[in-house]
Amino acid sequence: MKNKHNINKNLNNVKYIVTRASKPIKGNIIVPGDKSISHRAIMFGSLSNGVTNIKGFLEGYDSLATLQAFREMGVSIYGPKNNKLCISGVGIYGLKNPNKQLYLGNSGTSMRLLTGLLAGQKFDTTLTGDKSLNNRPMKRIANPLKLMGAKIKTDKKGLPPLQIIGKRLKGIKYIMPIASAQVKSCLLLSGIYAKGETKIIEKGLTRDHTERMLKNFGYKLRKKDKTITLVGGSNLQASKIKIPSDISSAAFFLVAASIVPKSELLLEKVGINPTRIGVINILRRMGADIKLLNKKNWSNEPVADIKIKFANLKGIDIPIDQVPLAIDELPILLVAAANAEGITRLRGAEELRVKESDRISVMARGFKTIGVQNKVYEDGIDIIGAKKYKGGYIKSYGDHRVSMSFAIAALRSTDDIIIDDCINVSTSFPNFKTLLNNLGIKIKEVKY
Ligand code: S3P
Repeated sequence: MKNKHNINKNLNNVKYIVTRASKPIKGNIIVPGDKSISHRAIMFGSLSNGVTNIKGFLEGYDSLATLQAFREMGVSIYGPKNNKLCISGVGIYGLKNPNKQLYLGNSGTSMRLLTGLLAGQKFDTTLTGDKSLNNRPMKRIANPLKLMGAKIKTDKKGLPPLQIIGKRLKGIKYIMPIASAQVKSCLLLSGIYAKGETKIIEKGLTRDHTERMLKNFGYKLRKKDKTITLVGGSNLQASKIKIPSDISSAAFFLVAASIVPKSELLLEKVGINPTRIGVINILRRMGADIKLLNKKNWSNEPVADIKIKFANLKGIDIPIDQVPLAIDELPILLVAAANAEGITRLRGAEELRVKESDRISVMARGFKTIGVQNKVYEDGIDIIGAKKYKGGYIKSYGDHRVSMSFAIAALRSTDDIIIDDCINVSTSFPNFKTLLNNLGIKIKEVKY
């Protein structure tokens, strides 16, 4: 699959070799900017009138894929430099036909959100991605978009490449069958281009960065309980966006500090949006020692420093309502579970099967390799806390969060853990290895 693996098609792949932590993990760290917010900042900045300045942008392949797509559609974007971007917005009707297919690498968020905003353009587009992205379900967006009058072609199984034929759209009322922020955001973006009102009724609470950012860009939107309503045709006004650190990236360090005795870490300026803090709620229930300090607000998003100390974790039944609020952190939470006393049960997490990999199977296989007992269900997994487990060779299936989860698991394994296919860690967390090295952890990267 060389040449099809990521946005930078010329890179070699890498393996990680990670050694058990020999001492407590201590210090202050800053993890990179929030991926979800970075995507949205480019999208809304590009579609607005005026110049948008962004600080704290994630320079990972996923958000860079979105950036590149807007450049191909004629938007002038300066940077990124030191995580700063300056976007000269073209207005909601100012995008140009890219006249070539847009390659979105590994990024589901780029593909699903872009489809929403491209469905109502005056030109046609084709979206494609790497092997993993081209295997991810798109009917979840194509079906409601068709109800709005869009024309989206997928293959027979509903998979990308997506061919989007620009159409006039009309607003709809849509009751979401799955809890998905990507589907919700896709429909809100197409709603901007639709005639009349678009009303979305959520199945469960999911991340609300799109709603918050629409407000930053001066777009009116109503939200009542699980119903979000907007009317198409208004303009977006340029804004200033300061992006907090990504709680999904912070999660690896929250678990690292929780499982290595005597550790203590301060994670600075992390986004603590209530729709993203499932990982904190779940870890606290397992007995983690977490304090939120220095709370503030950046561009309509709550931010805090997170202090975390080692604690003796216990297994729990993960509350189902927390699953969408921790959807990207479930793999690393399973590593916390492997180091806890007793059984942890995860259910209602069938969405994990259609992420960058089938995260239930891939995590289960990895755990089996290192001797952590588990039982797989269609919508989840039971992890039997092991406290002691061995090293081994883990296949990550190119899934960034699986790679990073097993790197953290290695901090407590008796022998080294070797993880293959780790290049996609750069989709969300380009300096993961450097930050671990800076904390005194032995993680080696081997090119192959
Ligand atoms: C995201 C939403 C989630 C999440 C993904 C980012 C977003 O996906 O897993 O990493 O930025 O909207 P779903 O909406 O498919 O659950």
